[in-house]
Amino acid sequence: MSVELRPGLIHHPGFLDEAARMRLAGEVAAVLRASPPFTPRMPRTGKPFSVRMGNAGPLGWVSDEGGYRYQPTHPETGEPWPAIPPMALAAWDRLAGDAPPPEACLINLYGPQARMGLHQDRDEEDFTAPVLSLSLGAPALFRYGGLARSDPTRSVRLQPGDAVVIGGASRLAFHGIDRLYPEPGLLAQDLLPGLLPAGGRCNLTLRRVRPHHAVT
Ligand code: SIN
Ligand code: MN
Repeated sequence: MSVELRPGLIHHPGFLDEAARMRLAGEVAAVLRASPPFTPRMPRTGKPFSVRMGNAGPLGWVSDEGGYRYQPTHPETGEPWPAIPPMALAAWDRLAGDAPPPEACLINLYGPQARMGLHQDRDEEDFTAPVLSLSLGAPALFRYGGLARSDPTRSVRLQPGDAVVIGGASRLAFHGIDRLYPEPGLLAQDLLPGLLPAGGRCNLTLRRVRPHHAVT
């Protein structure tokens, strides 16, 4: 079952069942143990985000006083990012159509009070491929609008295991997370032990960053 929220913005409720969520969470935990989460900062002001982040794949998204960008190494350790979790790649194969493989998997870690302001995903060099979002942990209120910041917005609650494809006419749609609905349940508590506070949420976004050049 899937729901077209607006053209190109497709919500797949319950895309990952509980077993798949647990497997993905284990893979994400392994990434974050090898490559520790960092706190991104706003360009220019240096104000810290409320969301902590990690990355997997050849490129990772980072933000600091120097701006938003993709880079092949961790901003603090200087190490390359770990490989993208196989469960995330499998989701891309099922939901991203004929897009070339993702190059970046951004891991957003939301404590119970964290949020993410309305923004566009537009740091990629090519917008042909969709962005694929996978949610684990606490439910969250996802707000989405149009291609202009001033366009009207609507909201939908994302549950653990939900996927959202941000593509086509919505590839540059504004979106953000207004709030979490922390649940003291076991799953939320044990989602990423030692990496995420109880009641937290983890969202992965898979992105193609550079254009795909066919090999001839
Ligand atoms: C994002 O826009 O990078 C994350 C969205 C989400 O956490 O669902
Ligand atoms: Mn985004």
